[in-house]
Amino acid sequence: MSNYHIKHLEEYYKVYRKSVREPEVFWEEIAEEHFVWRKRWDKVLSWDFSKPEVKWYEGAKLNITENCIDRHLRTNGNKTAILFEPNNPDEEAQHITYNRLYERVNQFANVLKSQGIQKGDRVCIYLPMIPELAISVLACARIGAIHSVVFAGFSSTALATRINDSDCKMVITSDGSYRGKKTIDLKGIVDEALYECPGVSNVLVVKRINSDIDMKEGRDQWVQPLLDAASKECEPEIMNAEDPLFILYTSGSTGQPKGMVHTTAGYMVYTAYTFKNIFNYRSNDVYWCTADIGWITGHSYIVYGPLANGATTVLFEGVPSYPDYGRFWEVVEKHKVNQFYTAPTAIRALAKEKLEFVNKYDLTSLKVLGSVGEPINEEAWHWYNDNVGKKNSPIVDTWWQTETGGIMVAPLPYVTPTIPTYATLPFPGIQPALMDENGEELQGNQVEGRLCVKFPWPSMARTIWGNHQRYKETYFSAYEQKYFTGDGALRDAVGYYRITGRVDDVIIVSGHNLGTAPIEDAINEHPAVSESAIVGFPHDIKGNALYGYVILKETGESRVHENVSKEINQIITEHIGPIAKLDKIQFVSGLPKTRSGKIMRRILRKIASNDTSNLGDTSTLLNPEVVDEIIENVIK
Ligand code: WTA
Repeated sequence: MSNYHIKHLEEYYKVYRKSVREPEVFWEEIAEEHFVWRKRWDKVLSWDFSKPEVKWYEGAKLNITENCIDRHLRTNGNKTAILFEPNNPDEEAQHITYNRLYERVNQFANVLKSQGIQKGDRVCIYLPMIPELAISVLACARIGAIHSVVFAGFSSTALATRINDSDCKMVITSDGSYRGKKTIDLKGIVDEALYECPGVSNVLVVKRINSDIDMKEGRDQWVQPLLDAASKECEPEIMNAEDPLFILYTSGSTGQPKGMVHTTAGYMVYTAYTFKNIFNYRSNDVYWCTADIGWITGHSYIVYGPLANGATTVLFEGVPSYPDYGRFWEVVEKHKVNQFYTAPTAIRALAKEKLEFVNKYDLTSLKVLGSVGEPINEEAWHWYNDNVGKKNSPIVDTWWQTETGGIMVAPLPYVTPTIPTYATLPFPGIQPALMDENGEELQGNQVEGRLCVKFPWPSMARTIWGNHQRYKETYFSAYEQKYFTGDGALRDAVGYYRITGRVDDVIIVSGHNLGTAPIEDAINEHPAVSESAIVGFPHDIKGNALYGYVILKETGESRVHENVSKEINQIITEHIGPIAKLDKIQFVSGLPKTRSGKIMRRILRKIASNDTSNLGDTSTLLNPEVVDEIIENVIK
């Protein structure tokens, strides 16, 4: 019997129990039945969380693009693989069939080879949401190069840090991008970044907005003429199961972003299997995930998961507000989208607008609605359920992380009864554990603690690029033999999970993970600033927004404050990107610190959230007097 498509709740429990009792048999069956392998594995799993070392399907040989493209050609060559919906609704959508995708990926792969890119080399991709983004990702995978996609909203400094951290040889970018009414000079950002990146000798440029850009002789080339001259056949590089497929950066509570490394076979198996079940994908469905491929959601659930299933995946260049707030629903109607996957922050933003923007369109094609990236609040859940799903499409609230590679906790639509704000049940193969403050695992139901996973799953990140020690310390040191997620969660009476949010200093703003340290470092570069601390506070649309407490070297007038505030946000935009700008900045004379000099963020968080009723004992602080001063001047 195939485990591939779970159809009712009893079957889920049966499959789940098997996945825990006999994980190797379970994952072996899935791998056997649904993929093409050049060589079978010798061993399904070996693992040791104390090192940590995890290997899935060791000894197997494959190429993920054969699974995502080649094997669909015989039966589904003329089916649309990628359905590109441009920023401008007047520009025609493109239906890229599997046949055409095969040719375009191979041509791109041949161009990469002709430019000297080899197996194992790192290639940075800094592109807007256009077909070339998915194609260049797949082209890297075709030849065994490791792609490192950087979200095209990041600044030149952030881009340079990421390029250098993984020693990328090449950058793939475009002459610019469209974003609603605006155009953005991506190539200019790349040029700026590359002043700091001596290792990059080659830049391929996709023409998107026809802007007049500088091309640096000997380094920059337009990609189209190279593609036109390239062969449409490119033998896939045969990869080992554990060869790295990609690096993707995510923020940590401290330090620089972490380059999470995902490997080939396990990632493929897990993203494909979860995609099929969690979105209930059927062969003629049109699936749309609105994320950007620059994030893990786009890697796993726009590119690899859907294509491994031979699905039609929509790639949307635009924004939800352009040309008006009805755009998402217009696209759903136009392409008869069946599965729609978005983030709570988008739902909240759209819920603020007139209902007319939703009601105008025929949304009857929808069968499954997804949510990802942060906890979905009850109000947003109901708005989504009532107005988009018309109470007819189950909402799958999917909890997972860049580090987990694929969805970990989520309902199966039409299988798992849903409750607003609950991600519900662990996916087969996932063994969550909730930990108490003494480091003990909480047994039974109706408990709340820190969320860990106590058994490996195929798509977990294997390391942090260039820093295995940090990988171990961040994820495997808080609790023995467990992967620690950084999130808190509760398990209710029936065993459903509800994610309560981050328990570390990562703040999720509009679904984007932001670490406090790089933002504080950026602020501290302002010549007038001596110290700063960032916390999150609840925000109607963004979920959380950033509140900055800043100590100036010399106390200033309010006019000075205003200017410094503007400059601080300017510096943050340059160092990280506009997503990390502060909503509120308060100038303070000191920050509450413990006697060992650690900033008490818990207190700052409460003050920023206007929740000062229970600040706890502040008398043990080094400087308790600043707390009253901060409360008095808090920015409402
Ligand atoms: C949060 C995104 C509650 C969580 C795929 C996690 C969620 C972090 C949910 C990872 C959800 C993601 N409910 N919280 N359904 N999904 N999160 O790496 O705090 O960008 O640790 O991966 O987002 O964010 P990342």
